[in-house]
Amino acid sequence: MKLIDGKAIANQIKKEIAQEVMQIKAAGGKTPHLAAVLVGHDGGSETYVANKVRSCEEVGFKSTLIRYEDDVTEAELLACVDRLNKDADIDGFIVQLPLPSHISEEKVIESIDYRKDVDGFHPVNVGRMSLGMPSFLSATPAGIVELLKRYEIETRGKHCVILGRSNIVGKPVSMLMMQKGYPGDCTVTVCHSRTQNIKEICLQADIIIAALGVPEFLKGDMVKEGVVVIDVGTTRVPNTNTKSGFKLTGDVAFNEVSPKCSHITPVPGGVGPMTIVSLLRNTLLAGKKAIYS
Ligand code: GUN
Repeated sequence: MKLIDGKAIANQIKKEIAQEVMQIKAAGGKTPHLAAVLVGHDGGSETYVANKVRSCEEVGFKSTLIRYEDDVTEAELLACVDRLNKDADIDGFIVQLPLPSHISEEKVIESIDYRKDVDGFHPVNVGRMSLGMPSFLSATPAGIVELLKRYEIETRGKHCVILGRSNIVGKPVSMLMMQKGYPGDCTVTVCHSRTQNIKEICLQADIIIAALGVPEFLKGDMVKEGVVVIDVGTTRVPNTNTKSGFKLTGDVAFNEVSPKCSHITPVPGGVGPMTIVSLLRNTLLAGKKAIYS
């Protein structure tokens, strides 16, 4: 069993990005600039956004954090998006999700200029990704594919089972895994809360991507020997033994499943660290106008 070390790969890619930023600056080019919009004080969102801003600084980007209280109106938030769309110094920006229930996430995402949508959530980017065209790939699917690539895991002709059909992980990663070429060329099955015989389907899988948000859903008797398991789960399960009062728990019962795997990602330290790197890469591409001019 080989542990897929997302933290190490993420650090390596960060170094590669920092190197490129140095070269851009030395040649008199523009410093890539990412803005993040954070609404409210959700613990998870606070941590994620703080990590994104810190990572920007580590690789030499400029970053701007814009904060609103929970009671911000949809109109105010849309006006903020409009300003960021028009601000020539901002190469890309994200609006951290989830948003309070009185604000339509769909409306906010659609109002973002797709050329600055470094989260890859805008329908134009999702559509282009599905068609195999150059686009901003969303962070988690891009991170998963990058891990498979860096560990030279064979995907061609393999049966990839995806657990979960969310717009930000399940659906897009299913498109990437079935795309022509490497990493891709998989036969893909997407399972969700209404799927029957999940165990039988999982037992046929060469690669399982677990992204349903149910802690330790995938058990040892649901996988075959030699399977590759990518665990996208990050549920905060209350735990009295940790300083924070919770334990980040994946969708895979690691102790049962890992002995049967050829490769597996841990939680934390697997897919998680890769997601920020994908955002940094998209921002670098946005700064270079590499996808949209
Ligand atoms: N909430 C959870 N993941 C993400 C992400 O990748 N981007 C944004 N904007 N919000 C999130």
